[in-house]
Amino acid sequence: MNFQEKVSPQTGLTFDDVLLVPRRSRIPSRHAVDTSSRISRNIRCRLPILSANMDTVTEATMAVAMARAGGMGILHRFLSPERQAQEVARVKRAESLVVADPVTIRQDLSVARALQTMHEREVGGLVVLDSEDRVCGILTRRDTALAPSTELPVSELMTPRERLITAPPGISLPEARALLHAHRVEKLPLVEEDGRLAGLITAQDILKLQQHPHSTKDERGRLRVGAAVGVRAADIERAGRLLAAGADLLVLDIAHGHSDLAIGMLRSLKAEYPQAEIMAGNVATPEGVRDLAEAGADAIKIGVGSGSICITRVVTGSGYPQLSAILESAEVAQALDVPLVSDGGVRQGGDLTKALAAGASSVMVGGLLAGTTESPGASVIRDGRRYKVVRGMASLSANVSRLEVDQHREVDPEDWERVVPEGVEATVPYRGDVADVLYQLVGGLRSGMTYVGASNLAELWENARFVRITGAGFKESGSHDVQRI
Ligand code: XMP
Repeated sequence: MNFQEKVSPQTGLTFDDVLLVPRRSRIPSRHAVDTSSRISRNIRCRLPILSANMDTVTEATMAVAMARAGGMGILHRFLSPERQAQEVARVKRAESLVVADPVTIRQDLSVARALQTMHEREVGGLVVLDSEDRVCGILTRRDTALAPSTELPVSELMTPRERLITAPPGISLPEARALLHAHRVEKLPLVEEDGRLAGLITAQDILKLQQHPHSTKDERGRLRVGAAVGVRAADIERAGRLLAAGADLLVLDIAHGHSDLAIGMLRSLKAEYPQAEIMAGNVATPEGVRDLAEAGADAIKIGVGSGSICITRVVTGSGYPQLSAILESAEVAQALDVPLVSDGGVRQGGDLTKALAAGASSVMVGGLLAGTTESPGASVIRDGRRYKVVRGMASLSANVSRLEVDQHREVDPEDWERVVPEGVEATVPYRGDVADVLYQLVGGLRSGMTYVGASNLAELWENARFVRITGAGFKESGSHDVQRI
């Protein structure tokens, strides 16, 4: 064997190694740019950005904010299948044209019980049913706020059927809106002819629809959400729960996705749930993309060791510089019609533009979003400044948490010693609301697209030319020779 041939003559490049070459542009302003893209074969988003399936990045609150802004959140899998499915359900309930299965209560139960249900299900009102499941009233927090006793039955405090404003199930949105306004009510139960509940339209949902016109929604007007699964046999059942709760996308998440384990699991998931949309990864080569696409992936995550909290390349010696990984895989992905997701290493708008220009259809972002209000990570104050905690999903503490979830027990100190971490625990500066961070990121992308004369993603792929730069060029690219204030 010729060992010298083992080294590729190519140099692996990443975002900071290149710049996009400015080109003639006919685009009048960055607002004329369309950033929409395919996240997977059958899901489109206005913003090509996914929040990472990390336990310090994406739970329901982040996923709701991401979808409202036009991107999408991927719920992490380091919690029990039941809890992860509940997180999916929370996102799917956050808004909708029609709530298909409103929360209900029997009229003979106590107000205390009704309040408990409202609290548990995170709703502000309940449709009240009689013993034959017919709608007989509605109970909201307004009805209960000053009640002399919470032991009273619901029927005594509810707005009863004769004073209730209802509509038939087929009502249009403008009609529902007019009815809600005419009667100055917040909730409109949809009732079948036989008195049974068919759904609910709320004033809140209609308002949210107006506030977030570009949000990522399913065909029923609910926010879209993805959820991660692993490669173990038990993950088939987890996937079933997530899909039943309404997940729009499963993300088969494994550090080395170009493996028999991942390919086998992908095939099993596709066989068990043929309708499910599945993103798979992570891989770093065209061969990896081809193998996952042939096993049925609807989108493929590219990136090994590029994440802000990753030490995979240091600990294992393996990985691939992110820009080259995308550039080298893009042609195969296009030929097989499977969108690529660039996962890891995005710190600002320029990285996002470069990842997409290299051939990705979207990017996944972790560390940058971990610093936002909506991330589940803990806040810490240091030297009077606020930070949030972020950790790699292969970090020591994340490995231990996973063992605890899997084994329903506290992990012994000896188990801690057996972990070989490929990620770190860290803090990132608090960055405010996710919508503001996305606005800056996408503002950079929009401008970046005008610099290469691209009004949409297809044109960005077509027009983009990169120039390699030196250390001096990199230094010149940032602010320099000035004192920043
Ligand atoms: P950023 O740079 O956006 O990257 O923070 C997020 C991505 O990093 C990956 N990830 C890890 N990679 N060890 C790794 O080698 C880890 O512990 C780890 N945790 C997350 C993951 O792909 C994520 O989307």
